[in-house]
Amino acid sequence: MDSSAPIEVRRVRVSDASVLRQVRLRALELDPAAFAASLDENRARPESHWKNRASESGSSDTKAEFLALDSDGTAVGLVGALRIANHRDVAELVAMWIEPAFRGRGVAVGMIEAVLDWCTSVGVLEVELWVAPGNDGATRLYERCGFTQQPPRKGAEQYDRFDTYLSLDLGEAAGNVASSATNSPPPET
Ligand SMILES: CC(C)(COP(=O)(O)OP(=O)(O)OC[C@H]1O[C@@H](n2cnc3c(N)ncnc32)[C@H](O)[C@@H]1OP(=O)(O)O)[C@@H](O)C(=O)NCCC(=O)NCCS
Repeated sequence: MDSSAPIEVRRVRVSDASVLRQVRLRALELDPAAFAASLDENRARPESHWKNRASESGSSDTKAEFLALDSDGTAVGLVGALRIANHRDVAELVAMWIEPAFRGRGVAVGMIEAVLDWCTSVGVLEVELWVAPGNDGATRLYERCGFTQQPPRKGAEQYDRFDTYLSLDLGEAAGNVASSATNSPPPET
């Protein structure tokens, strides 16, 4: 892994089942406190689970996942967006993770841009997410991208422990992410 090389961000493909499994398990292994999901449960999931997830995440208009790939094609980041049943104009941003050696150089901003582009393309108007207590770096990242902390939307999914709810109105936010990315310092190596 060359952590100074350019990073590609692209949507998960049907053929990415094993990559998806590997990067998701690594995220849950290294940063369990950041996520509601369980490492053990995910480790135990059969191959068919990851195949279905890659297929859905790569092609449905309900759910999308994006990978960050280094110059060798190694997955170094993951993020997902899931439209809310019965509130299809709202999507939840989930599973944001960047490989530690690639942090601090703005990769996550590119991942968020990919999520917001997809949300816009399918007609989502509002994007929401939860951050675990003490994960101030993640909260600052989302705020730089235009998300604001607010009381949770009525009916929003609640997770144990997670206490910070942020959302972004895509209608109001046009341009926020692009301008925050432009204003970012140069990537660190
Ligand atoms: C939160 C996370 C996705 C941010 O990704 P990123 O690509 O590093 O984002 P950025 O480049 O914008 O940097 C985020 C912060 O890390 C700091 N940073 C710099 N170098 C760093 C390094 N080597 N390692 C970690 N953080 C570093 C940045 O300066 C920035 O700090 P700031 O908020 O005070 O400005 C990533 O840290 C991560 O995967 N964390 C663990 C999982 C997690 O918390 N996910 C979010 C769930 S809601």
